[in-house]
Amino acid sequence: MSQTEAFTVSGTSARWIRPGEQGTQLGPRAAYLTRTTIDLDEVPPRAVIRATALGLYELHVNGQLVTQAGLYRPGWTDTTRRVQYQEYEVTGLLRPGTNVIGAELAPGWHGGRIGTDRGNFQRLTPPELLLVAESEPGHSGVELLAATGEGWEWSASDITESDLYDGEIADRRQRPAGWDSPDAADLGRWERMELSAGTAGLVVPQTGPTVEETATFPVKDVRWLDDGTAVVDTGRNETGFVRVVVDAPAGTRVTVSYGELTDVDGHVYTENLRSARCRDVFRCAGGDPEELAPRFSFRSFRYAQISGLPGPGALVRAERAVIGTELERTGWFDCSDPLLNDIYAAILTSTRANFLEVPTDCPQRDERLGWMGDALLFTPLAAYTYDVHGLMSKWFDDVLDARTARGLFTDIAPRPPGRVMFRDREGAPAWADAGVVLPWLIYQRYGDRAVLTQMYPAMITWLRAVHADNPDGIWRHGRGRDYGDWVPAGPDTSHDLFGTCWLYHSTRVAAQVAGVLGAGDTAWLEERAGVVRDAFSARFLDAATGRVTAPEPVGSPAAARRFAPSVAPETQTGYILPLVFGLVEGEVAARCGERLAELVEKAGRRLETGFIGSAYLLDALAAAGQTALAGELLRRSEFPSLGYMISRGATSIWERWDGLQPGGGPACPTMNSFNHYALGSMFRWAIEGVCGLRQAPGAPGFGAFTFAPVVPAGLDWASFRFASPRGEIRVRWDRSGPDTVDGEVTVPGSATCILAGTVPAGDRVLTLAGGGAGQLGPGTHQVRWQR
Ligand code: BGC
Repeated sequence: MSQTEAFTVSGTSARWIRPGEQGTQLGPRAAYLTRTTIDLDEVPPRAVIRATALGLYELHVNGQLVTQAGLYRPGWTDTTRRVQYQEYEVTGLLRPGTNVIGAELAPGWHGGRIGTDRGNFQRLTPPELLLVAESEPGHSGVELLAATGEGWEWSASDITESDLYDGEIADRRQRPAGWDSPDAADLGRWERMELSAGTAGLVVPQTGPTVEETATFPVKDVRWLDDGTAVVDTGRNETGFVRVVVDAPAGTRVTVSYGELTDVDGHVYTENLRSARCRDVFRCAGGDPEELAPRFSFRSFRYAQISGLPGPGALVRAERAVIGTELERTGWFDCSDPLLNDIYAAILTSTRANFLEVPTDCPQRDERLGWMGDALLFTPLAAYTYDVHGLMSKWFDDVLDARTARGLFTDIAPRPPGRVMFRDREGAPAWADAGVVLPWLIYQRYGDRAVLTQMYPAMITWLRAVHADNPDGIWRHGRGRDYGDWVPAGPDTSHDLFGTCWLYHSTRVAAQVAGVLGAGDTAWLEERAGVVRDAFSARFLDAATGRVTAPEPVGSPAAARRFAPSVAPETQTGYILPLVFGLVEGEVAARCGERLAELVEKAGRRLETGFIGSAYLLDALAAAGQTALAGELLRRSEFPSLGYMISRGATSIWERWDGLQPGGGPACPTMNSFNHYALGSMFRWAIEGVCGLRQAPGAPGFGAFTFAPVVPAGLDWASFRFASPRGEIRVRWDRSGPDTVDGEVTVPGSATCILAGTVPAGDRVLTLAGGGAGQLGPGTHQVRWQR
């Protein structure tokens, strides 16, 4: 929708506005207030406000905060391309006579440091507002009540600095009381707003879910240190902030700093936040106990450190506010192993923390960006536990907006405004490929064909370019920043091999998309997939032995600099990708699977994989019949494993296997997030493998699924409950004897369940009682696998 349609009422178009000339007095990161008054003879039967901003806004009507706890409107997009607006019904807030409509604005994703290089701020001008209020249906149709334009006024807010990375600085004494109320006495001098250019991009209604304060709970513990600071332990590493109530004299300077860990002397550990300050500074208004919390900033943390209070008595209360995108919970995993349950809890936390507006890499340091590779790996698991359909559909627009001038997918969406290094650079294998792979996943999981139509032209442009650059089928050229199997626990994998596997996979996925859409490119895509497959076999595969090796393996400077000084010709990931992408099949796949198991064995029965290899490691082992090893790696608690993170106190998933080094403290702080979902992706196998729920091919929206559990040694039972688009699916199994597994499955109406004929249980293979593989219709069914 164009902005004139949504913001034009009775022929009057709202205009973008910002503080007039004196606005330059506002610091580059200050928030400000703006307001207008309207006189009404009577309250209309229905009144709505539509609003958006370049920056973040809070909407106020007659002294009431309309945006409730939604502090992060209008959301995150590349505002040069697209900005979302929201609509609010405000009928009940209006009254006959004078009414005030006001907004507070702050830089947020549009104008703050998000995605910028250290110290480089985007915003040269204050945030801008676009708003219209209308009544409908009046006696004479829709009527304009108010629209941004001349006649609006502004004043400084009490927030003199506001930034998503750095936090806020606010002097509560300076907040003009009653600024948003028609009953306020003297508000002092307010300056005129002026018309501004706004954005040349689209102004579209928000369709995805919004960011909200999703939970509030008391903190776990408050410890006072000798230097007079209070360190609050909230118990979990989640995203949001601490809301403190203090009773302190006017002008008291209270600082609240945040960290994921504490250091040896008990203060918050902040080194791994890099340049993000994650700190709020308040001057108290004094008088009654007052609440201190940031309004337009958040961070991920477990600990908060409060300094500047005159003594423990001044801290009346501290509670934790969790913020995140309002996503409906759809999945519940449970089993007899507390370690797996703890890992799952950490996965849920990292999902909530990082599906914030868009899928991000991390929520704490000076990054928090829509890294596409991380999303590619983790969304298949996230979509089992939360309904991510709306969030992803909106993000696909961001992915399209972020494309290069040639129309190629990039690494990050929305495109970070400031990072020169990302400007117009095509994305890397497994990062850019999210533009192909994730729409297909969302179509599969939710049955929504529209995402395929939305993304298909861009998929084809991307694949045509990569194939044109690499006619022989080995993806050597145009690999962007070429991350490879990021943060591996062993040597890096050849990037030629890695890229070629991804090219094959994306091309095959696009061929399936083309098939669903009836697009004309299927034959070309199949042919190219064949070329890549042959090239892979010729260069990397010895079919007779099942060995996958890369002659003269080369990594990437980015990986070498950070964590992978060596590249090996043969790695676990070098087997995993061909196995899961179907580059090897049948006998050859079996030999590759054996070799993969040997490599795991040789490494001390440990994974050596990074972000990408880990996500598919257990699938690859299981598909190759190595189910016992897959189960063992899932349940492992020694380094490196998800269980190791839990054993070191993690409540969220870490960016690195060695986030806390075995026997030591935090790894290198320049890249060490403790709330980073990518490595958690391997837990998808706990649902698809251990619980055995897997979508059947060709059944988008879970019209058909399989119940084919893998019973790891030592696990007594496992269950997964899933609110699928077809209704609730439940799977559960219990080991009822050494050679017996009892299963239960609930099949929703209009869905079908295909039962496994055999089930691997530790070192045995059990067979479905009654013989053969069964097909089950709606209802709850008991089944048994036995020797
Ligand atoms: C991010 C990752 C991301 C990577 C690119 C890092 O800084 O945090 O999660 O995918 O860069 O390889």
